[in-house]
Amino acid sequence: MPLLKVKDLNATTQVWVWEITETFDELFQSVALKDVSLARVENMKSEGHQKGFLSVRRLLMEAGYTDFDLYYDEFGKPHLREEARSKKQESRENTGAKHISISHSHDFSVIVLSDVNIGADLEILKDKTLKLAPRFMDVSHLANLTAEDQLIKATVVWGIKESVFKIKNEIGISFKDDIFESEFNLSDKKCSVELRFNNKVEHFDIVFDFIKNYVFVCAFEAS
Ligand SMILES: CC(C)(COP(=O)(O)OP(=O)(O)OC[C@H]1O[C@@H](n2cnc3c(N)ncnc32)[C@H](O)[C@@H]1OP(=O)(O)O)[C@@H](O)C(=O)NCCC(=O)NCCS
Repeated sequence: MPLLKVKDLNATTQVWVWEITETFDELFQSVALKDVSLARVENMKSEGHQKGFLSVRRLLMEAGYTDFDLYYDEFGKPHLREEARSKKQESRENTGAKHISISHSHDFSVIVLSDVNIGADLEILKDKTLKLAPRFMDVSHLANLTAEDQLIKATVVWGIKESVFKIKNEIGISFKDDIFESEFNLSDKKCSVELRFNNKVEHFDIVFDFIKNYVFVCAFEAS
């Protein structure tokens, strides 16, 4: 079953997860793409990336949207067209989301749809993330953990920083020097984050979860 999961993260935020088991042709034939998207797919170097992109269009369809409802701003952040939201509301589904965040990694893709600005990230567990940890996080947060949990936590922290970056969509944010995660345990499946950037301090609430050997993270602006 390619649509693996739909889960409410809160009253107005849903995550949709696709497990990519299809061939490129199967995915390609099952989605309608606007010209700009077709050009993007054609220019992608790896089939894995192409399948990630196409599977996101399948998720959009499951959620009642299409590729035509999506556009990207100059930095690459995806947005839903206002008309798409109105269309959903008129159809009385009343689930027209204002915001979308997208992530794909190897065999999975996710979209998060919400009434509020969100950032989502999906990361496969790989040793390289732990090796690079000193470059992007406070490694004292990995103390007293087993080697396996160190890898998982470093991956969660990387996902946290990508997610906050996706909410803010601002050039110049340093993962190591500007984004600070609170102390947390893996079993908490949540934590909070401070972004200290451009002489401002902003707070974010994080939820995270695990899908097979992947980490899923979603960031919300704290109220
Ligand atoms: C853009 C970025 C967040 C993408 O993350 P990634 O883990 O490589 O890839 P993901 O699959 O998780 O996310 C890709 C999706 O993010 C979305 N995205 C791209 N740019 C974005 C932005 N500026 N804001 C929000 N979302 C963005 C897109 O939807 C994209 O998928 P699509 O183009 O197929 O629709 C990442 O490449 C990036 O630039 N990170 C910041 C880099 C950085 O500062 N690193 C410092 C390390 S110390």
